[in-house]
Amino acid sequence: MAKEKVVLAYSGGLDTSVIVKWLQLEKDMDVVAICGNVGQDERDLEPIRQKALDIGAVQSEAVDMREEYAQDFLTRAIAANALYEGVYPLLSALSRPLISKHLVDIAHATGARYIAHGCTGKGNDQVRFETSIKALDPTLELVAPVREWDLGSREEEMEWAEANGVPVPTTKSKPYSIDDNLWGRAIECGVLEDTWNSPPSDIWTMTVDPQAAPHEGEEVVIGFTAGVPTSINGKEMPLLDLIIEANAIAGRNGYGRLDMIEDRVVGIKSRECYECPAALLLINAHKNLEMLTLSAEVLKEKQNLDLKWADLVYRGLWYSQAREAIDAYNAYTQAHVTGEVRMKLCCGSLFMDGIRAEAPLYDYNLATYDESDTFEHAQSEGFIYVHSLPHITWSRQQGPGSRQ
Ligand code: ARG
Repeated sequence: MAKEKVVLAYSGGLDTSVIVKWLQLEKDMDVVAICGNVGQDERDLEPIRQKALDIGAVQSEAVDMREEYAQDFLTRAIAANALYEGVYPLLSALSRPLISKHLVDIAHATGARYIAHGCTGKGNDQVRFETSIKALDPTLELVAPVREWDLGSREEEMEWAEANGVPVPTTKSKPYSIDDNLWGRAIECGVLEDTWNSPPSDIWTMTVDPQAAPHEGEEVVIGFTAGVPTSINGKEMPLLDLIIEANAIAGRNGYGRLDMIEDRVVGIKSRECYECPAALLLINAHKNLEMLTLSAEVLKEKQNLDLKWADLVYRGLWYSQAREAIDAYNAYTQAHVTGEVRMKLCCGSLFMDGIRAEAPLYDYNLATYDESDTFEHAQSEGFIYVHSLPHITWSRQQGPGSRQ
């Protein structure tokens, strides 16, 4: 009888390489290894693809998902100013539903009934993969070897790998867990687990030390069309290229580092360091342009919805009615968000330096204090009378001397 087929979310690291073998030995399955290119630092995925075949995968593919990531995921994240707990731009959370979609498509194309991933039982990514996959096709079965096996420590895992012909890393790996893509880099574990320890300087690769950045700083003009960044310093480019450029510009000015205590879905607080130069620069510029182009009422509602959107995506609910409903609100609002924002980067700091829009709600003649002022000052008297009326009535009721 033909063996069952399993599609594996494979990165080429120790865990998922061991899983390629483990699924064959422990589950007697044929493994289809899928490595997603989401713009991670590791550029050459060919040796990684080949490695899975060497470990016995029946099929191994490196799939370029970058364009789709930028178009379908990051565009919406920017529209939602997506920052989990107001801080983290969701780089891992955004890539998982995209990878899941490809895993499901490949499972359908290859006739696989199983999908496997290398996430631990303590993290968010297991929740994101499994929730996304089930939302896309509830008939698929999931396998999470790391939750199942008893290869406790990294040493034990290396021994198992060695004994079973899985190549083990020869260079001493950094004692951190890292996830990276176009939208930034996440670094955790090792000395970072003591929350009082400073992040060691060797964890950062996308940003220079802010204290060593050029003192004169750098200006950068971001152009937006209907809420989507479309140009940088006057040069139009596709979002994918623009993000790569924005990462370089902000990174060389030491901007984009975060160090936060974060609330995981599984109830644990964890300490995570991030560097997200482009994500934070673009979201900051975008928020400023929204303040110029959206009404106060819309902005207030949007602040709540932005936080809600980030929370949904963090919790693995990309493929949900709730996320789509907020995106519909954003689709309407973003139609107004066209213009340019000049941002100033300097030694790890970021400031808005100038802004203009196609349809600004800022009216010079209303705002100015010079002679071109058109605001009808006398009208304010009547406005204040009506505005204060309920409070005057209440105050009268309370009687003299009752106010705090
Ligand atoms: N805490 C982040 C999240 O849940 C990143 C997870 C992956 N981080 C890592 N360093 N491997 O989205």
